[in-house]
Amino acid sequence: MTSSSLSRSLVSALGTAATGSTRRTAGGPARVVVDLDLPGPTISRHLYGHFAEHLGRCIYGGFFVGEDSEIPNIRGIRRDVVEALRALQIPNLRWPGGCFADDYHWKDGLGPREDRPRMVNSHWGDVVEDNSFGTHEFMDLVELLGTAPYVNGNVGSGTVAEMSEWVEYLTRADDSPMASLRRENGRDEPWAVPFFGIGNEPWGCGGTMRAEDYAALARQYSTYVRDQGGDPGNHVTRIAAGASDDDFAWTESLMRAAQNLEGADGESGPYQAISMHYYTMSGPWADKGSATEFTDQEWYLTLSRATRAEELVARHSTVMDQYDPHRKVGLVFDEWGTWWNVEPGTNPGFLYQQNTVRDALVASIHFDGFHRHADRLIMANIAQTVNVLQAMILTDPDTGALVLTPTYHVFAMNAGHQDASALATHVVLPEQPREVDGRSLPMISASASVRPQEGTALVSLSNLDADAPRTLVLDLRGRTVTGHRVTVLTGASTAAHNTPEDPRAVAPAPLEDIRDHERGLEITLPAHSYTTVELQLGE
Ligand code: AHR
Repeated sequence: MTSSSLSRSLVSALGTAATGSTRRTAGGPARVVVDLDLPGPTISRHLYGHFAEHLGRCIYGGFFVGEDSEIPNIRGIRRDVVEALRALQIPNLRWPGGCFADDYHWKDGLGPREDRPRMVNSHWGDVVEDNSFGTHEFMDLVELLGTAPYVNGNVGSGTVAEMSEWVEYLTRADDSPMASLRRENGRDEPWAVPFFGIGNEPWGCGGTMRAEDYAALARQYSTYVRDQGGDPGNHVTRIAAGASDDDFAWTESLMRAAQNLEGADGESGPYQAISMHYYTMSGPWADKGSATEFTDQEWYLTLSRATRAEELVARHSTVMDQYDPHRKVGLVFDEWGTWWNVEPGTNPGFLYQQNTVRDALVASIHFDGFHRHADRLIMANIAQTVNVLQAMILTDPDTGALVLTPTYHVFAMNAGHQDASALATHVVLPEQPREVDGRSLPMISASASVRPQEGTALVSLSNLDADAPRTLVLDLRGRTVTGHRVTVLTGASTAAHNTPEDPRAVAPAPLEDIRDHERGLEITLPAHSYTTVELQLGE
């Protein structure tokens, strides 16, 4: 093999994406090359979205403690949780599920709490749900957070009328029956609901349906999720429930079923977006791996599996391209993140897990991929915000103490990417990528964005090497750089995590190991670390 065909095959093995690539050069320093003057698609702020399900201690004990709690609260909603999430500028919150959504009957969550009917939360711990957190409480929460609601409707055990009435209840201003019912329950003005999900995982917990059967229902239900009352500012994007992992046939069924159809309000198709779900774990479903006790091999396996998320986005998008080459239909990655075995001693149905430096890098790898596919991906929601799966926040069930996780800090450090323009970012490494589980895993992951008008850019850099620091040249092209601020997130080990006793074991800190370089900056990234470089740009 000639050297040029060798480098061609390496490039194709590593893959190139719309706004970036990873390459290998023989010798020389590691480089991350950023074209600051070539802004690409806008990175929707909604790629930094969240998800709160009636599951374990996410809603009850996490967000909602009730007015009588000793924990400081606003109408029952934890004040410290609201403050922590406001600092993240979370753009949207999906609710009430997940699997719970297809068991949920929204009218049970209205009126005086003591009169609300109870139900069994069959998916999550088989516990009794008292419906004390319902529509009004959720909309109160999103208003406190300053975020957009993404309400997920019930297809699996609900009706078309029930879904249609929920949208009317939420969004209609006049004296229609549901708007009047809302007023009786104390809310005069309608709420804006920009996103509405048509069921969840219909291939599984949402109804065990075949793709064609769900696609027919998605068309039908979407027809009745109408924009209400003629207020153009209150437009609902309908999101059809999409595939798990690499079920591209599911995506194709939904695209095929929607082609050549006008939506109820003249839009392209009955639904304007399709979702997908993919979780990262280091073992099989029956034994997903421990959140805090893992080998280096499991570290690399996990990070390699996290890189698969980008491949899945690209491949679902390619399937969609066949029917929608102009990318009018959005892809919504509304469940992603790590899924570990629950913390020992906790309810297996509550999905409570710790969160380490490894989780932080799983998040940063996902975001790098999301930024590269900002032209198709319109929303993403990590699962889930508080006390469930890859959470931002963990609360102690006994003391109520709140801890911010390493993943929280990645979201905070990346906040500047929201609504910025993606930049082509090329990672050039002198060594062969590590082969993990049949995939190539380069030890550096990166992405960048720019705000040309404001003269700022943000570069994200992850060093996936468990043991070795990595010096790289940040090769900044196309604009002059007049200032920089570099922040690093790491811990004493790959499994470092935050607890009430040590809440800042993994916390952002200024990175000192940085020097000017003729091409930009030379930076030494600590082992197992995440770094952001905020740049001030000249003309
Ligand atoms: O996030 C936990 C669960 O994972 C959701 O309820 C479901 O949609 C998925 O299977």
